[in-house]
Amino acid sequence: MIQYQEQHRIFAIQTKGSSYVFGINAKGILQHLYWGTPVDVEDCIPLLTNRGHSSFDMELEREIEEYSFWGGLVYSEPSLKVIWPDGVRDLCMDYTGHQIVQQDGKETLVMTMKDRIYPLEVHMTYAVIPEFDLIERSVRIVNTGEHDIVLESMQSAAWSLPTLPDYRLTHVTGKWSGEFQLRNTLLSEGKKVIESRRGFTDGHANPWFAVDSGQATEERGQVWFGALAWSGNWKITAEKSSFNQVRVTGGINDFDSEWILGPGESFDTPMFVGGYTEGGFGEMSRHLHHYQYQYIIPSQEPRKVLYNSWEATYFDVNAKDQMALAERAAKLGVELFVVDDGWFGARNHDRAGLGDWFVNQEKFPNGLNELIEKVHAFGMEFGIWVEPESVNPDSELYRQHPDWVYHFPTRGRTELRNQLLLNISKPEVKQYILTFMIDLLSKHDITFIKWDMNRTITEPGMKDHPIHRQKEVWIRHVQTLYEIWAELRERFPHVAFETCAGGGSRIDLGILRYADQSWPSDNTDAFDRLSIQEGFSYAYPPKLMTCWVTESPSGMNKRVTSLAYRFYSAMMGTLGIGSNLNEWSDELIEQSAAFVQQYKDIRPVIQYGQQYRLPALKHKGVTAVQYVSLDGSESVLFGFLHSQRLGEPLPRLRLQGLQADQSYRIDQLESTWTGRALMNIGIELPLRGDFDSLMYRIQRV
Ligand code: GLA
Repeated sequence: MIQYQEQHRIFAIQTKGSSYVFGINAKGILQHLYWGTPVDVEDCIPLLTNRGHSSFDMELEREIEEYSFWGGLVYSEPSLKVIWPDGVRDLCMDYTGHQIVQQDGKETLVMTMKDRIYPLEVHMTYAVIPEFDLIERSVRIVNTGEHDIVLESMQSAAWSLPTLPDYRLTHVTGKWSGEFQLRNTLLSEGKKVIESRRGFTDGHANPWFAVDSGQATEERGQVWFGALAWSGNWKITAEKSSFNQVRVTGGINDFDSEWILGPGESFDTPMFVGGYTEGGFGEMSRHLHHYQYQYIIPSQEPRKVLYNSWEATYFDVNAKDQMALAERAAKLGVELFVVDDGWFGARNHDRAGLGDWFVNQEKFPNGLNELIEKVHAFGMEFGIWVEPESVNPDSELYRQHPDWVYHFPTRGRTELRNQLLLNISKPEVKQYILTFMIDLLSKHDITFIKWDMNRTITEPGMKDHPIHRQKEVWIRHVQTLYEIWAELRERFPHVAFETCAGGGSRIDLGILRYADQSWPSDNTDAFDRLSIQEGFSYAYPPKLMTCWVTESPSGMNKRVTSLAYRFYSAMMGTLGIGSNLNEWSDELIEQSAAFVQQYKDIRPVIQYGQQYRLPALKHKGVTAVQYVSLDGSESVLFGFLHSQRLGEPLPRLRLQGLQADQSYRIDQLESTWTGRALMNIGIELPLRGDFDSLMYRIQRV
């Protein structure tokens, strides 16, 4: 899969459906040559040339450097920029060797580069995922000298694209309760930057990109894409040069950032996975989904149907009400009962108690175990909410340790949701978090943690950390978070984790190495969720997406939707219920229990199958998403109509992913078709009126 053409010094990474080729040019620079439909390594030999335009633009090949070392004639977005101990700031890196090794079961190419004078080594890693046409790139930077080297920017990878008539960038944007909104834009000369500077992944953007010529659709067309495994400040820069060269560089955001690399130390950048497909955005997503299932997330277990008390009780949590909720939840068929915020300290509202991780005795006079035993007796597992990185100023913890939060000594401390953020890389703070989490998980039979983070970083000063290292804060926070999660997972392998940050502000391939599922948005309105879930699905798979059924009218926006609509919308990921069941009638419980059972029946298709977005009737207000089991034997179709105009019937909808020659039965329609007919002629969706919905099970006969 990894080829080396020694005579011309060209490397080719061959996957099932792509070739990725670069070579070492006459100047010793790693030059990108090709990324796309499979070609032979020999075919790329003529591409390895230097190209100048004028004395002003003498080395255009630097625009397609595999990894852009800032120095000399590099004027495009740099991949690496350093300050040497003597104040010189220019890199002259030469290729010194390479290795092809097996690493974590993946064939991996490691390219080694060294500076001509200064003691720095850079190992650029390409790990190949051939079945999904993906390459995982990262870089290790090693200080082999005796003095500190300052890393001003150390990106994970630069992805050069071939010449296209146009370059269309697809990404997501958003905000609290409106995360994962899809956007696309044509790139003109200059840079388009998507990034986070808020300390976490951020709901305003998410670290992945896709580029196509503007022609790709869900079903076909060339798409180049990538996703970054980093949960802190990140930056993805899509840059188009005046010579029509487009390169996408990404990694840790260099804004207000610096890392001091001491003698003998090394720094590993986060992993940036990139891929190529000819199967349009649909196949891009399916490759990313199954890559995460197989290579990123920590467990292959099915995700459980959960109940979460947040929207039912908010901070008004107590043993009695929670037990009543648990009893109702069990009747629904819920498998995991989760108590959200409000169970600890003086946490009666969002103004106090955060940081005081002891069970509130007034709310739980007999401790948490009384409730947990009840939950178990009802046949469910027990989960709980925590937000360990934050503190309310009105808390015992803050009163004792006001210096534990990020702050600048001469400035105020900005509060967001009445809270401040702990400097978790301070050893005693990290230990405090580990101690209470270990205590919580050791003393209680808890199998699910919802780990929240409800504020951004402000005034990023770290007390007691050396002055010249203060800009390491953004990186240290994330590194420490990963260390804490890694240790907790190791100690408590039976506990599943959900990543949450005021909704969907911390979902990325970095945290997903430790998380079993994620909370995409606090917006639980079943219609609003459809676009959030669509945007989510571009890079992340259904199983990782927790979706709750909540009240109608929706508490968010007063929208009225039917029970079926709310269930179907939530069944598209990992199903949860978030309503106040104490107010539900027995009849409603019974109807809902039937939906929960339906979900359990289709769960293997949703959580392990392939997802197909079917946007053909979007202009008619229809959202349709189909799931197909890997063996093609079973499929599920969800359809949602926003509102019907003039009583117009909807055109037929063509399905995808079925086996053409096989017959499929749709029970709800009481009929059987071939896969060929379903995929080419399609079916009529009997959606009528406003906010109508359907779910079809399509089974091979
Ligand atoms: C955040 C989460 C919610 C809920 C609250 C609790 O907003 O996204 O789901 O847990 O915190 O305070």
